[in-house]
Amino acid sequence: MSTDLQEHAARQFAHWRGTAADGAMFAPGRVNLIGEHVDYNDGLVLPMPVREGTAVAWAARGDGRIIVRAADRHATDEFAITAPDRPATPAWPSYVRGMVAMLRDQVPGLVGADLLIAGNLPQGAGLSSSASLCIAIGRALLAAAGLAAEPVVLARAAQAAEHDYAGVACGIMDQMAVAAGVPGQAMLLDCRSLAFSLHPLPPAWSVVLIDSGIRRGLVDGAYNLRRAQCEAAARTIGVASLRDADAGQLSLLAAGSAEQRRAAHVVAEIARVRAAAAALAAADLPAIGATLRAGHASLRDLFEVSLPAIDGLVDRVNDQLGGQGGARLTGAGFGGSIVAILPRAAVPTLAAVTSTALLTAW
Ligand code: GLA
Repeated sequence: MSTDLQEHAARQFAHWRGTAADGAMFAPGRVNLIGEHVDYNDGLVLPMPVREGTAVAWAARGDGRIIVRAADRHATDEFAITAPDRPATPAWPSYVRGMVAMLRDQVPGLVGADLLIAGNLPQGAGLSSSASLCIAIGRALLAAAGLAAEPVVLARAAQAAEHDYAGVACGIMDQMAVAAGVPGQAMLLDCRSLAFSLHPLPPAWSVVLIDSGIRRGLVDGAYNLRRAQCEAAARTIGVASLRDADAGQLSLLAAGSAEQRRAAHVVAEIARVRAAAAALAAADLPAIGATLRAGHASLRDLFEVSLPAIDGLVDRVNDQLGGQGGARLTGAGFGGSIVAILPRAAVPTLAAVTSTALLTAW
């Protein structure tokens, strides 16, 4: 709950509209601690909401129109709630329109609204700014209509918006972490059943994000290709999804093929999530650190979504931590942030080995 950001959004709304907002809703971003590129393979993941996120100040309208202002971009979009047409090129209105369209399919009785968006998540940093935007819009739409919905309904609508309006065949991890997570608590989520449990971090641990500053284009195509390769591997093995595959079945895939490398990552990564959750329960920092280091090597060598500059940053942080925790690339990859889990007391010394500012997620 980011009261400051909500107040900021409400002030911006009053400045924009000349009347007070009726309310302001918030949704956080998320960091994934471990379990990368396994959500769309029905696997297990361990994300955690961060403090930063998106606030949407709202006021209901009686004419069925949605007028939405992105305060930070000084841009406005307007459409009828009954006709949230898909923009030709994916951009921020795609997420708003997509969320309106998908939530309307699930929740009857939504009404028009003035919406003002304000956020404090770095864009493109692998912290799910798009899921945060979608869920915050969804919460504001529900509030404007005096309605409520289960977090999973919001999460599914946000995922559908991303698929149909932004062209990214994403899994459900980000949307579930944002809609149902609690900041400071890791969420062990089964992406097949959507069952989850929440696990507070030990007080002596800190989770830190380091933005590589690298932003790459064409990420959506590379992401969708990885997903297609995983699905092809599952078909060849003869399982519904790679969640059901085991290491022994990897030999059914062509030796050295991209499908085999992708599948090898997914099978081992799901095991690493289980190991990380056990390490978290035991407050075993060296053990969870080992899963992060192995996870990064797998993203680099088998899933091939890292970059040399990111590998260098991860190596420097891991060298600095010396086994007391660990670091890895977080999110879809090809740029963005690395996440480190480390002793809270070691956070100041970490700043010395990075040139960018640290974001203390917890
Ligand atoms: C993006 C997607 C998620 C997930 C991660 C990789 O964040 O939105 O669904 O696949 O990449 O783990």
